[in-house]
Amino acid sequence: MSYKHQVAEMIASALVHMGVDSLNKEQVYGMLETPPNPAMGDIAFPCFQLAKALRKAPPMIATELAANISGSPLQEVKAVGPYVNLFLDQAAVSTQVIGTILAQGAAYGQSNLGQGRNVPIDLSSPNIAKPFSMGHLRSTVIGNAIANIMEKQGYKPVRINHLGDWGTQFGKLIVAYRLWGDEEKVKAEPIKELLHLYVKFHEEAEKDPSLEDQGREWFKKLEDGDEEAQHLWSWFRDESLKEFMKIYDLMNVSFDSTHGEAFYNDKMDRVVSLLEEKGLLTESDGAQVVSLDEYDMPPCLIKKSDGATLYATRDLAAALFRHETYDFAKAVYVVGNEQRLHFQQLYKVLEKMGYPWAANMHHIPFGMMLKDGKKMSTRKGKVVLLEEVLAQAIADVQKVIEEKNPSLANKEEVARQVGVGAVIFHDLKNYRLNDINFSWEEMLTFEGETGPYVQYTHARACSLLRKGNYQPASSSELVPGALEGKEAWAVVTLLNAFPEVVDRAGNQFDPSLIGKYVIDLAQVFNKFYANVRILAEEDAVKASRLQLVAAVVVVLKEGLRLLGLAAPEEM
Ligand code: ARG
Repeated sequence: MSYKHQVAEMIASALVHMGVDSLNKEQVYGMLETPPNPAMGDIAFPCFQLAKALRKAPPMIATELAANISGSPLQEVKAVGPYVNLFLDQAAVSTQVIGTILAQGAAYGQSNLGQGRNVPIDLSSPNIAKPFSMGHLRSTVIGNAIANIMEKQGYKPVRINHLGDWGTQFGKLIVAYRLWGDEEKVKAEPIKELLHLYVKFHEEAEKDPSLEDQGREWFKKLEDGDEEAQHLWSWFRDESLKEFMKIYDLMNVSFDSTHGEAFYNDKMDRVVSLLEEKGLLTESDGAQVVSLDEYDMPPCLIKKSDGATLYATRDLAAALFRHETYDFAKAVYVVGNEQRLHFQQLYKVLEKMGYPWAANMHHIPFGMMLKDGKKMSTRKGKVVLLEEVLAQAIADVQKVIEEKNPSLANKEEVARQVGVGAVIFHDLKNYRLNDINFSWEEMLTFEGETGPYVQYTHARACSLLRKGNYQPASSSELVPGALEGKEAWAVVTLLNAFPEVVDRAGNQFDPSLIGKYVIDLAQVFNKFYANVRILAEEDAVKASRLQLVAAVVVVLKEGLRLLGLAAPEEM
């Protein structure tokens, strides 16, 4: 139990003693504040809310309450106006926090909130035969971090790559390939070549509109299982996936399922007949739609006049499939903010179909990646290839390593971990709905709020443990006084907060809380390191301080892991 929970329990039982039984320890916990200035105490409890129940002025209540609370982990309790200010016994708390972390290791912060229940997380989901965009990068890193964080909360995340592998564009692509395609070129650079063919199709179709008809025909053939069409489609899909896999491998992201849109082809009829049975389908301009007038939303398109189904139909089928397959606690969709309406419509249709579990579905939107104030676009061949971004980041880090630490072992692997980490962290340190300004300088520096900075701090702490010959087995007693001082205390307080931050990040689907947390922890640790002697101390003091360093290593590494970053021990 964290010290804050202990304090909440102490306050709650003192309140019962005073005749207040309307506040349980959870509620008290929620009311605890951090005083603006550490000199006023470590924790504050406001008494305003109690005035009514006790028919007394808050300052009087505070005085009475303060007199009723004492004992470990508290050193002093003071009433100040309407507040009870509590001072912790810092030595006792430090021992407890560090001891817990060193005993639990990477499991520190693990909870069982999710009770092993499934959470399908729809992430990445790029479109076949198109470049992997910055939006897909954001979805990948945010979704992967959410999966890690929820796993730490005791859920069972199911990472699903809902590939955009179906739709009329594949008819067009087949036409273009049959007219102008070259097998060798596609094999050599699939995405580039397929994109080229797709762009060419549109250019040519402006001159010759009959191409559009041919595209529709070929899509129809594809839907009807025509052998040539199927063959080309699955070849395009395989080649594209191979390309995407390179990116996933670099980023160390893997999926539990790559059921894309095409997977739902044979599950669409059921959706349509369910909607029909429930009397939800209406006709609009020859198309079948579900009206959402009552929510002031445009209708949800289910079937076009030519019988073709749509993106939304496939998402309905996917939602049913996920519900039936995973019986999920929550279902998460990490998809750009542009698709907000699509997901609102999806939930409303499911609600109208009578599925209460629609309430457990969450669209997790995110903002755009901007460069010089403009969206980084993949259209018209002006491609910012993500692979190139990652390759560039890795190369830059390699250069720094060659300059600063040429004898480093595993240079290449470390460069990958730090280069890719920089790209991921640059994304995750910001609240996801904010647009991000893509900046090499900001992303790659070893100072400031960057992935490399946190990784470097972790590596420095590791090297301190090596130099100090830190022995995990002997780390039991902290020597009194070894961890006195505001620098050490700032580190301990933050270490103690980690489980709470994990929980908040999970409940709010907000990895940036972990991003900010690891930056804060790195900063307070570096302050401690700069101001407190560690290695030049006598053995017992040194050992105590090294325990704090070891606890920082555990938590920084685990925080980075949750975000999807490696923590090299040397760099
Ligand atoms: N492929 C889509 C796109 O790139 C994203 C799919 C998101 N997932 C979903 N279930 N709709 O825009």
